[in-house]
Amino acid sequence: MSYKKYPVSIPELSGNEKKYLNDALDTNWISSTGKYVDSFENNFSEYLNINHTITVSNGTVALHLALVALGVQKDDEVIVSNHNGVYGPFAIEYVGAKPIFIESKKDTWNIDPSLIEEKITKKTKAIMIVHIYGYACDMKAIMKIAKKHNLKVIEDAAESHGASIDGMKCGTFGDISIFSFYANKIITSGEGGAVVTNDDELALKCRYYKNLCFKINGPRDFQHSDIGYNYRMSNLHAALLCAQLEKIDYYIDKRNDCFNNFKNYFLSSDLDNFFSFPKPEIDSFNVAWVNVIKLENTNININDLRFELSKVGIDSRNLFYPSHKQLFLKNGSPNESFSISEDLYLKGMYVPSGSNLEKKDILYISKTIEKTFSELKANNDKNS
Ligand SMILES: Cc1ncc(COP(=O)(O)O)c(C=O)c1O
Repeated sequence: MSYKKYPVSIPELSGNEKKYLNDALDTNWISSTGKYVDSFENNFSEYLNINHTITVSNGTVALHLALVALGVQKDDEVIVSNHNGVYGPFAIEYVGAKPIFIESKKDTWNIDPSLIEEKITKKTKAIMIVHIYGYACDMKAIMKIAKKHNLKVIEDAAESHGASIDGMKCGTFGDISIFSFYANKIITSGEGGAVVTNDDELALKCRYYKNLCFKINGPRDFQHSDIGYNYRMSNLHAALLCAQLEKIDYYIDKRNDCFNNFKNYFLSSDLDNFFSFPKPEIDSFNVAWVNVIKLENTNININDLRFELSKVGIDSRNLFYPSHKQLFLKNGSPNESFSISEDLYLKGMYVPSGSNLEKKDILYISKTIEKTFSELKANNDKNS
């Protein structure tokens, strides 16, 4: 029997992508200057309601650049969400600082602000939060703590394009924020990223360091006073992003509709107490970057469920691995207990997601998960 294959993500390029890309090619503007870079930076700033967007080559370097611009350096400490991809912790290590991990809230899966203050020391320079899976963090509480302790805030909004709290977009609360435009993101250029900020000086530093520390307004004399990076985005990538940004509301609506159908399927099922989903923060508007689901009240192994799904063509991924256990950490804390992030990793997954999934596709995926789970559960119950 052959099955339709459902990869975890397929980008949707259904607008002016080809037109703008061909224009960039036809006019020979293929490098990091050009009208699409300028347009995207202006239009994204306008979309977010922020002063500066600085395009870069991906979200990981955007995090590094943000830390460099803030002057975070060796032996500083940066408070960071423990339920996180490797990107933020890597960037903190790039500058020689130490990541100090904070557990998530059980219901929202996002960083728990009530646990931050006890981890602040004289070495703490910044708080780096992640709006995980498109769900906005409790930014009011986080900004209050940062202000009290005079700390900088970096928002990792890689997964949360368009999410907001009280109408203010994620990425505009902190001192400096980042976005990723990787192929699975809500708007994409295949690879790409941006740093955004309201601070003129931080923006200038980002422009300086991302362009190998060439003098911003000085002569091109090949004399460099600082060590810089080539983190530039090309006009070709920006051409794709200009087209994507024109349709961002459509992409968000489609993803949110899809996730609502997915979630409601399980919440109205007889098995509803075996599944859970992240709870939104008060006054937040969230964007369903991926269709996430977590098992509850069962010892069924999420990887057994994922394996069975893969056999019928449904791709999936585990949720993020708890950061404090990552082996690359020089000063990790593998013995510290982070039971919520560990549970998210052991019981959570995301399944095929994206604006091009139709209602019938998500219904098929939901039904298959429910059926496969029931079979594994029956088998488990029989053997226990
Ligand atoms: C939360 C988060 N931060 C940062 C990144 C890094 O972005 P990139 O893949 O563009 O380097 C990603 C993902 O890709 C992410 O999910």
